[in-house]
Amino acid sequence: MADYDDAPELPEHVLEELTEQAAEILLQARYTIALTGAGISAESGIPTFRGKEGLWTKHGEPPLNQYEQFVTDPEAWWERVVERRRNPDELSASLQDAVPNDGHFAMAALEEVGVLKHTITQNVDNLHRLAGLAHLTEIHGNSQWLRCMDCGTRSPFDEIPEQRPPRCDQCGGLVKTDTVMFGEPIPRLALDTCIREASQADCMLLVGTTAVVSPAADFAWEVRSRGNPLIEVNLDPTVISAHCDVAIHGKAGEIMSRIVDKVKRGLETRDEQPS
Ligand code: OAD
Repeated sequence: MADYDDAPELPEHVLEELTEQAAEILLQARYTIALTGAGISAESGIPTFRGKEGLWTKHGEPPLNQYEQFVTDPEAWWERVVERRRNPDELSASLQDAVPNDGHFAMAALEEVGVLKHTITQNVDNLHRLAGLAHLTEIHGNSQWLRCMDCGTRSPFDEIPEQRPPRCDQCGGLVKTDTVMFGEPIPRLALDTCIREASQADCMLLVGTTAVVSPAADFAWEVRSRGNPLIEVNLDPTVISAHCDVAIHGKAGEIMSRIVDKVKRGLETRDEQPS
């Protein structure tokens, strides 16, 4: 199981106080953005990478030259993709039938009420989209898409392409899966969007991420370096916890739902007050 059922739970009054503080900060901010990671999808049954039950903790890290392997021999690389579709590993299998959980729906609700302006996710699982989040940058790509390495055109990854390696319909360039591999540059459009969003943010919400992978985590440090508040929701303390105005340690589904309830209540109270 991807999330850890033996994790200590915060006492109710502490949880109430911390989620209240988080909601207050969100209500005061003008432009909040979020960074999410594997932890928000753990309650959907998708394994995390690091941590006690993480895939890499159990099986070791994947090779750091993945992208180089693709560039050197795209045909052999594609044959491995085909093999993985036939015999899915733990991660691929979990991605196939995963559905969004309360954490994903809470983020979408926060966006819908106008408090969350943009989300950067490191996840490739498509669950934020399925939950209805509209302003999203998938900085590590999306496992349900293919991408041309030359012109960046994306197409749905429904079937295994007959021609391998596949070629782009638009420009004839080499096509790979959209997910960003070790050693692969982040697609320019995604990176530019993250830079733009982070530069205008005056608050950042970090949900289910260790905040150790660059460049994704750098945006949080950048927002912080301008004196803006950070809010963390994560099962465990991370490298960034001590720099957060509020760090709440527990499951994203429950905590995010509580924060959203409080934000909605705060917005209602604000509407009821005479102007
Ligand atoms: P990790 O797997 O490194 O960390 C997941 C975090 O989520 C940990 O801090 C857990 O404690 C926390 N967590 C687990 N279950 C949770 C729950 N139910 N609620 C809240 N938090 C929970 O994932 P990331 O930090 O997202 O990139 O990893 C970032 C990137 O590392 C990945 O996108 C991947 C890898 O390099 C690529 O493969 C390109």
